[in-house]
Amino acid sequence: QAPLRDLADQQGLRMGAAVAAHRLDEADYRRTAAAEFNSVTHENALKWESVQPQRGQYSWSGADRLVEFAQQNGQRIHGHTLVWHSQLPSWVENGDFTPAELTRVMEDHIGTTMGRYRGQIGSWDVVNEPIGDDAQFRDSVFHRTLGEDFVAESLRMARAADPDATLFINDYNIDGINAKSDAYYELAQDLLAQGAPLDGIGFQGHLVSGQVPSDIQRNIQRFADLGLEVMITELDIRMQLPVTQQKLEQQARDYTRVVNACLAVPGCSGVTVWGVTDAYSWVPDHFDGQGAALPVDEDYAPKPAYWSIHEAL
Ligand code: XIL
Repeated sequence: QAPLRDLADQQGLRMGAAVAAHRLDEADYRRTAAAEFNSVTHENALKWESVQPQRGQYSWSGADRLVEFAQQNGQRIHGHTLVWHSQLPSWVENGDFTPAELTRVMEDHIGTTMGRYRGQIGSWDVVNEPIGDDAQFRDSVFHRTLGEDFVAESLRMARAADPDATLFINDYNIDGINAKSDAYYELAQDLLAQGAPLDGIGFQGHLVSGQVPSDIQRNIQRFADLGLEVMITELDIRMQLPVTQQKLEQQARDYTRVVNACLAVPGCSGVTVWGVTDAYSWVPDHFDGQGAALPVDEDYAPKPAYWSIHEAL
């Protein structure tokens, strides 16, 4: 059986996984990450708190490690993430900055991080989760200090740092058509109208089995119609534990629907799943009683969801 990455390559699609750099010591993890995926995203190692925990003190060990791994294995890298309210070191989160100071801090962080990996990381989630579930801009040091303009400003800084990189904004609960994705649709139109360098939108795709929005394809299409690249950037489809055969089969149908929705729209460039194995997925730690959200199980065996992706590609 061909690995997923070969099937995706034949269609020019990204089939990625979020990878934890520190797990690459484990043989099964490393083997699966290399064999199945043609793209990787740093699960945590490129976030602000990892890269610049203290002002001006950068730390690249985890980030570099995965970049090297990707190069050894002929994988693309999607950069995650530059400007986000979460996993932000306290010197930024609680910093009492003037707009000019915060602008300098952001320019430094974006410029240094993207600059280091210029030519190696081809696309970036420049801004992650700027809008909340109430469809309003979320409170953050960025929004408090710079207003809504922080999104356009971040994109401009990113374009200046690496003119060749594809620049995304990325969020969850915007996979289907709803108030939050409508807010993104407006934000995207607004950014494009003012000439801000936005190239794509990431639908994270943290979904619940049996509740995949029925209008995903229509939603992908409307963003693609704006001229944007759409990616499913963090796909996982969680279930209530314990796992049963029936739940695995439902989950497989759910994966089929998401992958087919992307395949049906030429502007959708691929899918990244948020983890290599259920053994290390973020889901059980963040959603009480839920898990088994990925295509590969805790023992690195392919699940029905894996075979449904295989068949869809
Ligand atoms: C998660 C990681 O998977 C966890 O290891 C970490 O503890 C918290 O963040 N949306 C995102 C990702 O954009 O960065 C998050 O990743 C999952 C939700």
